[in-house]
Amino acid sequence: MKKTIRDVNVKGKVVLIRVDFNVPMKNGVITDDNRIVQALPTIEYAISQHAKLVLFSHLGRVETEADKAKNSLAPVAKRLSELLKKPVLFVPETRGAALEAAIKAMKEQDIVMFENTRYEDVEGKKESKNNPELGAYWASLGNIFVNDAFGTAHRAHASNAGIAKNISTVVSGFLMEKEIKFIGEAVDNPTHPFVAILGGAKVSDKISVIENLLTKADKVLVCGAMAYTFFKAQGYEVGTSKCEADFVELAKTLLEKGKDKLVLPIDNVVAKAFDPEAPSKIAPTEHMPSDMMGLDIGPATIELFKKELKSAKTVVWNGPAGVFEFERFAVGTKAICTMLANLKGATTIIGGGDSAAAAIQLGFEEKFTHISTGGGASLEYLEGKALPGVTIIQDK
Ligand code: 3PG
Repeated sequence: MKKTIRDVNVKGKVVLIRVDFNVPMKNGVITDDNRIVQALPTIEYAISQHAKLVLFSHLGRVETEADKAKNSLAPVAKRLSELLKKPVLFVPETRGAALEAAIKAMKEQDIVMFENTRYEDVEGKKESKNNPELGAYWASLGNIFVNDAFGTAHRAHASNAGIAKNISTVVSGFLMEKEIKFIGEAVDNPTHPFVAILGGAKVSDKISVIENLLTKADKVLVCGAMAYTFFKAQGYEVGTSKCEADFVELAKTLLEKGKDKLVLPIDNVVAKAFDPEAPSKIAPTEHMPSDMMGLDIGPATIELFKKELKSAKTVVWNGPAGVFEFERFAVGTKAICTMLANLKGATTIIGGGDSAAAAIQLGFEEKFTHISTGGGASLEYLEGKALPGVTIIQDK
């Protein structure tokens, strides 16, 4: 068990809280504040315990001076302040006298947030390459390190691993705790039957997840464009569907390994073009038209998945079933959301990234046991990998 912020006395201490506020932005406006909202319990708890809070995060990729302006955390600090109904002092620096003075002047329950940690990447990739001097410097700014950035847990950067190496107390926040509990337990100690649903575009992204889950789950349901590479491996026509020619052999190996455990779509929604208005029809997997592409799972597959999921007690879902961004090809993804929402007595976990976005966009946010805030991180966790951002947290 990992220590959490509940296990330490934070009163009057400068608590460094690494959050993942890498939120989607369009022209400086936050388009989805879920990651900020999910970090609130930790922040509110630290305030209630009279800590002095120093918050920081990365945002996007910052490689040149020109990347800085569009990746400033200033709008995020403003949004956080609105959500907390409390001032958040934003320091537009990642180090130096102004930041140190702001921290020194803090009173209990004050919040300082500093600029995007990846501003340090412009010269020598100091954040992303876990520069030892940078980690030590940030650690020197506080007394306790709370890592609540699950979304970044698959990275060993200065703002997580680097700080942890240079500070005596490293605990998790509540979001990190929740992610470890739900994803970790599902993978390591699931209640059976355990069914995994893996979708998305590429087999190549999911090889290790499929391999790992084939050893843990009772069934692995495959959907999304990734299924077409498997069809090809089975010798079927895939028409103009997305298909990874280089991974057909690997798909064959996975089919051999998975046997009956691996469940593939039996029918598909196909269209002539990748277009939201493209007329479509249903094609059985053995008879995909040579001039059409698969864009969603078909109704017979939805029924098949329903049957496989009926008695499931643990379900992990990562990757949409089709092009859910287009209304008419969102049917399969929506059907999976509905199936999971209606499962009685089951723990349902949605991996971050596209499937989380789909579930939220389709209005199912409240219907699952847990929607992860981590895209890459949840995937690597499902692969069974040790995540550096989790490893650094001290055990109880
Ligand atoms: C994410 O959005 O997956 C995390 O914030 C990590 O971001 P990165 O892929 O830019 O490291």
